[in-house]
Amino acid sequence: MEKLWTGRFKKALDSEVNDFNSSIRFDSKMAKEDITGSIAHAAMLGKQGIITKEESEIIQTTLREILGDLQSGKLTIDPMAEDIHSFVEGELTKRVGDTGKRLHTARSRNDQVALDVRLYLRGKTDELQAELSALVETLLSLAKEHRDTIMPGYTHLQRAQPITFGHHLMAYAMMFLRDMDRLNDCRRRMNRSPLGSCALAGTTFPIDRLYTAELLGFDGVCENSLDGVSDRDFILELSSDLSILMAHLSRFSEEIILWCSWEFKFIELDDGYSTGSSIMPQKKNPDIAELVRGKTGRVYGDLMTILTVMKGLPLAYNKDMQEDKECVFDAVDTVLQCLSVFAPMLKTMGVRKDNMRKAAAKGFINATDCADYLVGRGLPFRTAYKITGELVAFCIDRGKTLEELTLDEYRAFDEHFAPDVYEHIDLTVCAAKRTSRGGTAPQAVDFEIEQAKKQWAALTGKSGEK
Ligand code: ARG
Repeated sequence: MEKLWTGRFKKALDSEVNDFNSSIRFDSKMAKEDITGSIAHAAMLGKQGIITKEESEIIQTTLREILGDLQSGKLTIDPMAEDIHSFVEGELTKRVGDTGKRLHTARSRNDQVALDVRLYLRGKTDELQAELSALVETLLSLAKEHRDTIMPGYTHLQRAQPITFGHHLMAYAMMFLRDMDRLNDCRRRMNRSPLGSCALAGTTFPIDRLYTAELLGFDGVCENSLDGVSDRDFILELSSDLSILMAHLSRFSEEIILWCSWEFKFIELDDGYSTGSSIMPQKKNPDIAELVRGKTGRVYGDLMTILTVMKGLPLAYNKDMQEDKECVFDAVDTVLQCLSVFAPMLKTMGVRKDNMRKAAAKGFINATDCADYLVGRGLPFRTAYKITGELVAFCIDRGKTLEELTLDEYRAFDEHFAPDVYEHIDLTVCAAKRTSRGGTAPQAVDFEIEQAKKQWAALTGKSGEK
């Protein structure tokens, strides 16, 4: 296939150099966006009289045919092409001769590639939002179901205070809502058209940038042509947002992996979302969660790649920027894959409420409530804290829990203890009393779910009612 830039050169590109220089391996993913962008450009050239109306029509119709042929498999992408832009333009010229050669008037591959990547990633951001939105919905319904399921809450991975499983799940819902918000933000800044920046300086032709921007669904144009062709902030932002999202998925995965172990056994993953061992017949492994945790490293790597590629590049376009695609495409594909298995894995898991409850009964997680009880009887918190600490030490010596101590044993430590202490340290009561906003009580969880539904509806533009 002839290069777009042959005139000045006496020799063809060395074949190894051709492979090195080519981006068709990965930018063919943007075929649809490249053609859509070209159709808009051709429409604008016709409207402005830069090419004739007939030429514009022929180009647009043929580009639509090329897209149809690619989608039906009638046309395949030439792996020897330099990039997707050369391939599409070459194919157009093959079909309509000299008219096709008019398409690239008032355009450069520099603004063309910037346009294609924005269009492609905008579509992917919408797909990511849809997956995230489904994950949040799953979490909201699981949280409702487990609004009063008692489990131990941890700090330092040490049992700390009784919480509800619904409350724990809502913490993740909050993280994913923030991820949705970040992606919305990223999409807003991404959604400006660089088309018409041309090579770097704009053009002498009377183009209408607002027209192409509107045709392509952009909110506006990049206001500086040098910036238009060299800005890759939207890739940096998307990769950062995806890295933060993966951090959330990875923390969640880590907990799922722990909860699946015999040491916890808080949940049991569905057989469809677990694997076995080739040698140990008893094993059921949480591979999906482990892979999500592992793939987090990969997405962070993609972010580091683009950050490093962009650092130190002088204005405007530099070929280094061809390296912007593989990393962000990989990040997007990886996150989409992770999200598509995560929600169904959660939906199908079994929750072992009995084991959560048993674990909550150990570890003196009602000690704070015992101290609060004494505060309620008039003692200063520090004094109450010390007495409760001594009680815990006493229990550890005798292998007892706070619930198992007799009233006499309590009263030996402090005479303020009365029979109602048992009610105060009951795990369900302990959780139910934490009704402060954002707290763990079932009614507080209900309120959190309502708040989250409102946020979800605002972010998705859908009504919360289903
Ligand atoms: N394949 C190139 C890229 O991905 C397209 C732009 C080429 N521009 C150029 N001036 N060589 O960045």
